[in-house]
Amino acid sequence: MPPAGDLLVRRAGRVVTNNGAPVEGPAAVSVRGGVVAWVGPDDRVPWTITDAPELDAGGGCVLPGFVDPHTHALWAGSRGDEYAARLAGEPYDGGGIASTVAATTGAGDDELLDLAAARLWRMAANGTTTVEVKTGYGLDPDAELRLLGLVRRLADRLPLRIEPTLLAHVVPAGADRASHVRALAEALPAAAEAGARWVDVFCDRGAYTVDEARVLLRAGAAAGLGGRLHAEQLTRTGAATLAAECGCASADHLEHVDEAGAKAMAAAGVVGVLLPTATLTTGGAWDNARILRDAGVTLALGTDCNPGTSWCESVPYALQLAGPLLGLTVPEALRAATVGGAAALRRPDLGVLKLNAPGDLILLEAGHENDLLAHLGAPAVRTTIVGGVPITGSRTIH
Ligand code: NIG
Ligand code: FE
Repeated sequence: MPPAGDLLVRRAGRVVTNNGAPVEGPAAVSVRGGVVAWVGPDDRVPWTITDAPELDAGGGCVLPGFVDPHTHALWAGSRGDEYAARLAGEPYDGGGIASTVAATTGAGDDELLDLAAARLWRMAANGTTTVEVKTGYGLDPDAELRLLGLVRRLADRLPLRIEPTLLAHVVPAGADRASHVRALAEALPAAAEAGARWVDVFCDRGAYTVDEARVLLRAGAAAGLGGRLHAEQLTRTGAATLAAECGCASADHLEHVDEAGAKAMAAAGVVGVLLPTATLTTGGAWDNARILRDAGVTLALGTDCNPGTSWCESVPYALQLAGPLLGLTVPEALRAATVGGAAALRRPDLGVLKLNAPGDLILLEAGHENDLLAHLGAPAVRTTIVGGVPITGSRTIH
């Protein structure tokens, strides 16, 4: 549950607000009752807000918290052996998902909650304040609903904003495809009742077809669930166009997107979620950002945290890849990781530091946001603040 507190951050080296030009330091940000109350020069802080606990930024740069719109953070077991095999030349075809399903199904609720909570805390320590969490390692409708219940419990327990998604990942081995898709579609109203906000479908070779994905997205919409789509990741299927047809909030991965798919997404307002860590480990193409940007698609950036293609809880790492590999500039990459993620989750109140927006911000080690991308692999985030409450790192408050 996101907290709501009062805080006055002072002596920031600079504040990136995503609401006009950055404020040059020394600068201050005030949060009252969990929402942003003031941003401006440190020597002009109104006396009416100086009674809040004070956090000394020590010249560090302040940014809106990262909004990670795509993770599969709930699983048990390890796929290190599969990763090693890939480095030795095996291709990725999604086949390893079954081993994570077996480990996840065999794990108890408390074990799964502990594993996922540890991952989410690592994300928080890396500056994530809002995170979408997918189910997907259960496959059968009942197993997926069990995982969804666990995502809800994580959302209740942790001081992060968590967006629960039911993911139709792959058809279980041996299942009759048509009856499985029907049963999953019929379970979506229960998923909505259990707190899911989104339904996502892995639409690709070896997973769901475009026609099956359409059935699931429509059933989700009828149950009040917004749509998202794993699209054009391993092969080009036309899923980007399906995302547009179904009014999805986002289409994600998109390594194989073409101009027509990108144009359809732009026309329908579908956000393109780029997941460079997954592209890196699956050997995918890097020109999707250019194709999407040229078509006018809003870009978002996420970690895709999962055991098979992207064991990564760090948005800073995704940002550092996004620069040279996806060809994004620093402002483009940072916007994708903040307002872009918020757009992908249809949360226009997030990813921006403006009056009355949620007080979700991060204090960087560096005094300038350029250094967050330039200083590869270094600890990047000193403190993560959700709703005006420091939840990780330095809590030195006066
Ligand atoms: O986003 N593409 C499908 N799902 C995950 C990987 C799942 C897995 O290999 O466990 C992804 O890359
Ligand atoms: Fe994914």
